[in-house]
Amino acid sequence: MALSVVILAAGQGKRMKSDLPKVLQPLAGRPLLKHVIDTARELHAHDIHVVYGHGGERVRESLASENVSWARQAEQHGTGHAVQQAMPGVPDDHLVLVLYGDVPLVQAATLQRLVDAAAGGEALAILSVRMQDPTGYGRIVRDRAGNVARIVEHKDANQKERAIDEVNTGLMAASARRMREWLGQLKNDNAQGEFYLTDVVVMAARAGLKVNAILAEREDEVLGVNDKVQLAEVEAVYRRRRAQELMLQGVTLVDPARFDARGPVVVGRDVYIDVNVVFEGSVRLGDRVRIGPNVVISDCEIADDAVIHANCVLDRATVGARAIVGPYARLRPDAVLHEDVHVGNFVEVKKSELRRGAKANHLTYLGDTTVGEKVNVGAGTITCNYDGVNKWRTEIGDGAFIGSGTMLVAPVKIGAGATIGAGSTITKDAPEGKLTLERSKQLTLEAWKRPVKQPKG
Ligand code: UD1
Ligand code: CA
Repeated sequence: MALSVVILAAGQGKRMKSDLPKVLQPLAGRPLLKHVIDTARELHAHDIHVVYGHGGERVRESLASENVSWARQAEQHGTGHAVQQAMPGVPDDHLVLVLYGDVPLVQAATLQRLVDAAAGGEALAILSVRMQDPTGYGRIVRDRAGNVARIVEHKDANQKERAIDEVNTGLMAASARRMREWLGQLKNDNAQGEFYLTDVVVMAARAGLKVNAILAEREDEVLGVNDKVQLAEVEAVYRRRRAQELMLQGVTLVDPARFDARGPVVVGRDVYIDVNVVFEGSVRLGDRVRIGPNVVISDCEIADDAVIHANCVLDRATVGARAIVGPYARLRPDAVLHEDVHVGNFVEVKKSELRRGAKANHLTYLGDTTVGEKVNVGAGTITCNYDGVNKWRTEIGDGAFIGSGTMLVAPVKIGAGATIGAGSTITKDAPEGKLTLERSKQLTLEAWKRPVKQPKG
């Protein structure tokens, strides 16, 4: 049976005390709503509908590249009313799965269990969970036989019902045809004057339909986010989950609570990661890669046995086998380091290729540059790649030696095996195998004396 997913994301999120709509608040660098959409996609849904309202246009714009249908709920009259806004786009012969835009950690496997429990539309499936403190949640009321009879909202519940610790997560799956019928019959005669989605449970039960409550295995999977405290809680759960995945793949994390993997990560064997390391975007690490403390890596590939020392920032860079980077190095987009390259402290590399065994160990900027094999770039070397309007390339041939404090004014080529004298400003190509330097001659002025302080007045 084809699946339509409806994600409720119209709530205000007042308690966030933020100008950013709640469902756009970032979890691991991505909007809460994006997490839910991504999980929904794992179910191979036929279509995904997002019900938006508060901050609506901003929500749509931020997620414009997502292939989803948008349904506007201009005024928020409750969860049932919200689902109704999306129903015109959902065919009768589909199964409809309702998700919340502010419940971001639910796993695809759990949702699949929920979908399966709807038995091709023959049953209504709801996702429940046992809570230490169920205050505020809708309670699952079962009859003597243990079947789900209805859901009662906290605000509408009596003492006995409030003692129930099995609560409604809000997520449910049912036949779209039936859902449409039930939604049409909802009333708002309750404590909040809202059209409760949860009232479909009693309708299903009365119609003799089976109501299957699927228990989520862990409370933290169905945490909802209403304020910044809960936002930090789901971030911590996400962090722990990602860290655990990697440790189970054999990665050594010195402290899993001080490691954040925010995007997809692929690792080899015996990777070692020190504290305060953040991975963003997609990161691939080969075997035995070592990463020191305080390192940020975004969208990078790092090959076997490479070492990234403390306090480095790597963004869209490629690091070859056995390369050594940092401490305090910055690799910017399209920095490509081949095998055995060394890039040391306070070295910035952008859109540059450093071939096998090249070294730039101290205080250097390499931009739009090709550095040949085994080149040694002396401390304080700068490629002057920008003339204020255009960017130009620098090419350094294999085995060249660039003396410290050299300015390479691009476009410029340094021949293979060339040596550049320290302190040179190179504006013309330097030939292979020769010493080229550009400096005024050193003078000593015999007659010169230091100025002395003149008495005042
Ligand atoms: C709902 C459930 C409750 C459950 C709880 C779990 C109902 C009546 N109650 O309660 O049983 O225990 O979730 O968190 O369904 N939304 C809209 N439009 C609206 C109202 C809500 O889009 O008009 C969205 C919100 O943005 C949110 C979700 O629906 O993502 C849930 O709304 P919320 O007001 O938090 O529901 P609760 O009252 O907490
Ligand atoms: Ca709520």
